[in-house]
Amino acid sequence: MFDQAKQLREKVLHKTPKKEKRQTRIIAVTSGKGGVGKSNFALNFALSLVQQNKKVLIFDVDLGFANVDVLLGRSNKESIATMIEKDLSIWDIIEEGPNGLLFISGGSGFNEMFSLDESKMNKFFSELSSIQGSVDYIILDTGAGLSYENLRFILAADDVILVTTPEPTSITDAYSIVKMVHAKDQNVHMKLIINQCMSDKEGKQTADNFKKVTEQFLHKQIETLGFIPSDLHIPNAVKKQIPFLLAYPNCHASQAMHHVTSEFLQLPVSYKLGIKGFLLKMLFK
Ligand SMILES: Nc1ncnc2c1ncn2[C@@H]1O[C@H](COP(=O)(O)OP(=O)(O)OP(=O)(O)O)[C@@H](O)[C@H]1O
Ligand SMILES: [Mg+2]
Repeated sequence: MFDQAKQLREKVLHKTPKKEKRQTRIIAVTSGKGGVGKSNFALNFALSLVQQNKKVLIFDVDLGFANVDVLLGRSNKESIATMIEKDLSIWDIIEEGPNGLLFISGGSGFNEMFSLDESKMNKFFSELSSIQGSVDYIILDTGAGLSYENLRFILAADDVILVTTPEPTSITDAYSIVKMVHAKDQNVHMKLIINQCMSDKEGKQTADNFKKVTEQFLHKQIETLGFIPSDLHIPNAVKKQIPFLLAYPNCHASQAMHHVTSEFLQLPVSYKLGIKGFLLKMLFK
C-alpha cells in the first residue's frame, strides 16, 4: 500500500472509535432519463451528509459518462479496474475531496466484475469489504436508464434515490425504472427527488402525481425525499468545478439540499447487510 493510502485509511479509521464501527449503508442515486442532475445531486448530498458529521464515500459507477471527478475539479483517476490490474489496495484508489469527503473516480470496472476470474473476484470482494465499518454511507452515482449494471446497483443497494425533473419525458423514464425494479423485487424502497423545480408547489405536484401512478398501476409506494429548485448557481458551480454546496452555500439549491439531508437523516433505518450484502446481491440476485 502506498504511504498516502495508508495515511488516508488510518485517518478514516481513527475517526471511528474501535467499538463503534459504522453501519455502512449503500445508497444508489439513479434516474430514468440522463442529464436530470444525478451527479450534482449525489455529490452535494454526500457533502451535505459530511457537514452533518457523517463519513461518506462517493463512488462513481456511471460506466458511460463518469464525471464526479470533473465536478470536483480533480482528474488523477484511479479506478477499481486499476486496483485489480495492479493489485492495489482499495485505499490506494480512494481519494480525499473537500471537507474529507472520500471518492472513487469513474471508469470503475464494475462491468468487468461479472467476468473476473476467481482470484481477481476474491480480491475485488475483500478490498471492497474492507471499507465496511469505516464510512457511514457509500453513495453510488449510477448511469441513467435500464442497463443491466444499473439495475443490479439498484437491486443491491440499501437505499435508492430516484432523481427526476418535472418534465414528462423524465417522469416517464423514471416510471420505467420503478416498473422494472418492482418486477424484479417488490421490496426495493425508492425515494424520490424532484430536481429543477420552478417552485416547491411544482415539485410537490410532480411527486404526488408520480406516487399516485405507481400506487395505482404497480401497487408500489414511493416516498418523496424532497425538491431541489432550478437554480443557475448549479451550472455556475459546475463551470467552476466546485460543488454548488461549497461554491454557493446560501443559494436556494444549497438550502434545499440541506433540507433533503435532514429529512433523510430522520427516516427510520432498518440496517441491512452493507457492503457484503451489496456484493452478494450484485452478483447473485
Ligand atoms: N437544480 C438544477 N438547476 C439548474 N441546473 C441544474 C440543476 N441540476 C442539474 N443542473 C444542470 O444539469 C446538467 C446535468 O447535471 P448532471 O451532470 O448532474 O446530470 P446527470 O443526471 O448526472 O447526467 P448524466 O445522466 O449524463 O450522468 C448540469 O449542467 C447541471 O448544471
Ligand atoms: Mg452523471
